[in-house]
Amino acid sequence: MIDAPPPAYAGPQRVFSGMQPTNGLHLGNYLGALQKFVALQTKYECIYCVVDLHAITAGPDPNELAAKTREVAAAYIAAGVDPARSIIFVQSAVREHSELAWVFNCIARMGWLERMTQFKDKAGKHTERMSVGLFDYPVLQAADILLYKATHVPVGEDQKQHLELSRDIAQKFNNDYQAPGFFPLPEPLIQGPGARIMSLREGAKKMSKSDPSDMTRINLTDDTDAIMNKIKKATTDPLPLPESQEGLAGRAEVENLVGIYAAMSERSIDAVLREFGGKGFGVFKPALAELLAAKLAPIAAEMRRLNADPGALDAILRDGAERARAIAAPIMAEVRGRVGFWEA
Ligand code: TRP
Repeated sequence: MIDAPPPAYAGPQRVFSGMQPTNGLHLGNYLGALQKFVALQTKYECIYCVVDLHAITAGPDPNELAAKTREVAAAYIAAGVDPARSIIFVQSAVREHSELAWVFNCIARMGWLERMTQFKDKAGKHTERMSVGLFDYPVLQAADILLYKATHVPVGEDQKQHLELSRDIAQKFNNDYQAPGFFPLPEPLIQGPGARIMSLREGAKKMSKSDPSDMTRINLTDDTDAIMNKIKKATTDPLPLPESQEGLAGRAEVENLVGIYAAMSERSIDAVLREFGGKGFGVFKPALAELLAAKLAPIAAEMRRLNADPGALDAILRDGAERARAIAAPIMAEVRGRVGFWEA
């Protein structure tokens, strides 16, 4: 007789995602994450975290960490995440993240983590000098997601493998503790334009806050002049824009700019090429710069306003932590019971 498949998770659908409080946010963060966070609010219950526990895997930064944490929280709100509707909170304020990560450390296998390409990229040849925390980073990420039984996780392409690990951990927990359907197997939400925003100078490199040249990226706090200048100097080629998507092949820098225009205007690549196909960059670049400036200026202004009033922001984050804890605590209590921890 063939065993029936274990019952699938049947609880509510829920979105969870997080961003690290590291240096300055840029257009790639906005289109790859923030804009999606905002859009998902109309369809799902959403929980958005500033992952400061993850941030210390990159080394200590005690004088700046809290300020950067507030800055990312401000960016969530400025981009349009509504703290009344969605939960916005700081990871270290909900202690259960660390607790569940420990349980998951005893579920995940060394071999699973050794396959993680992000660790290999970050560590290079020097794995023996890396912190255990950096190696363990994806297990904490699985704990973030599953502590809320989140079913959908908006992330960039580079996080797909970490999501697969979260699914493997969820499945092995359900199996090992005879709890079929206890944890959902979370799905990444990656699709759509804006999934991969590249450097303005080199179409093969991701837009990144660690690139030494500021001209390669649009920062969320750039003013109109800076945006105009960076787009004007962005790498292109002498040909006009193509009339259709096939014409973007082999023109990575052009494809990136068209992708940015499409994502920022929430239109398809085809629609953008219908408008600009056959026209030169002398026409397209000013239109793109204007669109960027018009969309980003209010976000930058709102971030400045929020950062000028840390008391109000902290009140939002305290409320978020309380609401997050109200979901996390009973789930963690159930995990403790299933694992067999002593209960007074
Ligand atoms: N690792 C993610 C990133 O660098 C950040 C993150 C931490 C996250 N925990 C998460 C994303 C949980 C989604 C869900 O982008």
